[in-house]
Amino acid sequence: MSNQKIAPSILAADYANFASELKRIEETSAEYVHIDIMDGQFVPNISFGADVVASMRKHSKLVFDVHLMVVNPERFVDAYAQAGADIMTIHTESTLHIHGALQKIKAAGMKAGVVINPGTPVENLIPVLDLVDQVLIMTVNPGFGGQAFIPECLEKVTKVAQLRQEKGLHFDIEVDGGVDNKTIKACADAGANVFVAGSYLFKAQDLVSQVETLRVALND
Ligand code: DX5
Ligand code: ZN
Repeated sequence: MSNQKIAPSILAADYANFASELKRIEETSAEYVHIDIMDGQFVPNISFGADVVASMRKHSKLVFDVHLMVVNPERFVDAYAQAGADIMTIHTESTLHIHGALQKIKAAGMKAGVVINPGTPVENLIPVLDLVDQVLIMTVNPGFGGQAFIPECLEKVTKVAQLRQEKGLHFDIEVDGGVDNKTIKACADAGANVFVAGSYLFKAQDLVSQVETLRVALND
């Protein structure tokens, strides 16, 4: 499928060298850079914020796919729009006002994404499906890279793809967590077309050929 996109997660890169890590990603065939924002409250880990994303923007022309794991992400819509985020994806579990928050993201000129944790049912997405450009189904519990893929989450990918068809909608379906050359094909078969991969990609010296292993696995 031509709309398949690989999104290397910068969470797994060297934080002291974001400029050169972004250059490494630019050299691959990846379409997106996945950028994880963690506040130490919504998830038990802290990464970085909008100012760092703004600095990264100077070093990359790739699509910035920003995944916010923060409480009340609507507070930061303008900050990420100004930082140069292309897609801003927020958790249903992180705000009482998911509908309004997604409207705010779109009004700020970004693509809007909605994401659910492994323990959250697909039904919680239904009221906002017609608002979004991307649905992200977490395939690990958020907070850390390098965790094992949870295969049970793929049923939710299939359900979301069915709902998209029934409703005649066109959003992308992304998966995040434990994606590697062994799990990516099942994600695609379930209906996902955007694939985040962190530890699997960055453990390799040669990022270019490691991204290609995902494309090969997709075509198996
Ligand atoms: C986890 C993050 C992921 C993470 C994925 O909370 O949302 O984007 O970087 O890392 P891997 O691919 O190592 O599971
Ligand atoms: Zn993520």
